[in-house]
Amino acid sequence: MSSQTTVKRTTTADIAARKGGEPVVCLTAYDAPMASILDPHCDILLVGDSVGMVVHGLPSTVGVTIDMMIMHGRAVMRASERALVVIDMPFGSYEASPAQAFENATRLLKETGAQAVKLESGRYAADAIKFMVERGVPVMGHVGLRPQAINVYGAFRARGRTTTERAEILGEAEATAKAGAFAVVVEGVAEDLAREITERISAPTIGIGASSVCDGQILVTQDMLGLFDWTPKFVKRYASLRSSITDAVVQYASEVRRRSFPEAAQVYRLDSPTRPKKSGA
Ligand code: KIV
Repeated sequence: MSSQTTVKRTTTADIAARKGGEPVVCLTAYDAPMASILDPHCDILLVGDSVGMVVHGLPSTVGVTIDMMIMHGRAVMRASERALVVIDMPFGSYEASPAQAFENATRLLKETGAQAVKLESGRYAADAIKFMVERGVPVMGHVGLRPQAINVYGAFRARGRTTTERAEILGEAEATAKAGAFAVVVEGVAEDLAREITERISAPTIGIGASSVCDGQILVTQDMLGLFDWTPKFVKRYASLRSSITDAVVQYASEVRRRSFPEAAQVYRLDSPTRPKKSGA
């Protein structure tokens, strides 16, 4: 008998069932080492198109392509076994028609192994969500601040500030849930709007800059780990990776310059049977 235990991956149905229950824990992941660290602690790993800004140094998510999402999605799938992996549909890959959305979503799922897609769901997206869900593609929506619309907004700022904008966002959330999304990201809105959306729709809401009233939370991992000098108001920094990395690199550079690295422990010797230890061993 094998002693191997198989870990069951979280499903979209598991997440949908969490409405009003234990909060859903989500973080973004774009690569294998980070995915393996996050996987045991998260319900959802989102391969977000924020990868364009966080990893590739783009000014917005507009330039992200399907090929980029596939490459990062594969890495995250390889290194995770427990969390539901959701992959973002990049700008331009789903807005034209339900058929375009279905074609690109199936490519993302087939080529990465991820179980669901996410798209930024203004009202225009409801038809595409319904079309995809009916044909077997689980969809997560995304309302409020929609980063792919940056060139329309002009700046990344909280939304729902006027009565018209508020009603529009509420309508988008309702249309997204009604179309069959298993969960809906609510980004950059005031607490009372997040509460109203959460109370009105049947799908769990996953907040980012939308207060603790949502059914779950998501952050960009590199933001909460303190990899950047600047982070938005809604981000809490749980670590200071940027300064830890800087300290380490400053020390390394100084040791290389003084020839104090490598030391004896890191040097191969012809007369010694012992090998230098692998890092982390
Ligand atoms: O792309 C992304 O990382 C996202 C989340 C932050 C919600 O859409």
